[in-house]
Amino acid sequence: MNLYVKNDTTIEKHAGIGGKRKMKHLIDPLDLSVEEMDSFLDLADQIMENPQKYSQVCAGKKLATLFYEPSTRTRLSFESAMLNLGGSVLGFSSGTDSSASKGESVADTIRVVSNFADICAMRHPKEGAPLVAALHSEIPVINAGDGGHQHPTQTLTDLMTIRSLKKRLGNLTVGLCGDLKFGRTTHSLIKSLARYQGIRFVLISPAELRIPDYIFDSLKEKNIAFKEVERLEDVMPELEVLYMTRVQRERFFNEEDYIRLKDSYILDAKKMELAQNDMIVLHPLPRVNEIAVEVDSDPRACYFKQVKYGVYIRMALIMKLLELEG
Ligand code: CP
Repeated sequence: MNLYVKNDTTIEKHAGIGGKRKMKHLIDPLDLSVEEMDSFLDLADQIMENPQKYSQVCAGKKLATLFYEPSTRTRLSFESAMLNLGGSVLGFSSGTDSSASKGESVADTIRVVSNFADICAMRHPKEGAPLVAALHSEIPVINAGDGGHQHPTQTLTDLMTIRSLKKRLGNLTVGLCGDLKFGRTTHSLIKSLARYQGIRFVLISPAELRIPDYIFDSLKEKNIAFKEVERLEDVMPELEVLYMTRVQRERFFNEEDYIRLKDSYILDAKKMELAQNDMIVLHPLPRVNEIAVEVDSDPRACYFKQVKYGVYIRMALIMKLLELEG
């Protein structure tokens, strides 16, 4: 079976005379079918229940983290995941620390890194860079965030968090609030959750930060229930999951627009009073101002738990892409 690949991210690999296998990459969350995604989540649950069982699964394997853009959670959780599996890590944490600063292309870099590691996670400010890497790679490439486009491993983290805490991924009303234009985590999450039955989206953003047209059109085309609103207060009572996001300063063309829009939403204790008792608040983090610190002590604030799930799902992802059994 050739799992986890779309045609455009697939590379045919010769594996001995007459044999061919497909290299597995994760570039877009929809590279995974719903069944595959569910199987990743099941494995992550098993790892979380019994981490010791998986502690040497990647012995002798290396993960390269190629981060051309800053990260705390994604890079360190990938590194933690590989170390937890008994493997090793190498890599760089900014473009300026690598030969990209001398003009090396992503295609050349991945050809080189393919000699040093068994799998790689790449974050890049340019949309599509991890896809380019996958097309030239000898090892599985994981998109760890490309510009304002996609962030599939944050989505796996979000799905694991929602499934663990709400016990389902369908039949939910999910509010996404903030910068829905540039926030790649929201794009990936909407695309993935839209495949589950009974999902209803409430998209809360200023007009200038609405979801991109291609996502809007896809929701319409698939007849997914959604509405767009500007005021968070108005919709709080109907939400079962609230996914807050930061206004993405690094994607704005001018600072004035960022300053005008950055505090469009601030979730505080007063707004939380309007929410259901078992609503959960998620955030991919980092947080700036959009969730007041006073909310952290509310039992419905689950964004730090979310980070913990991210390590287990990345362990599962590494195992699946390397075709390793527990
Ligand atoms: N959620 C997320 O991608 O965080 P980092 O930018 O710190 O990796």
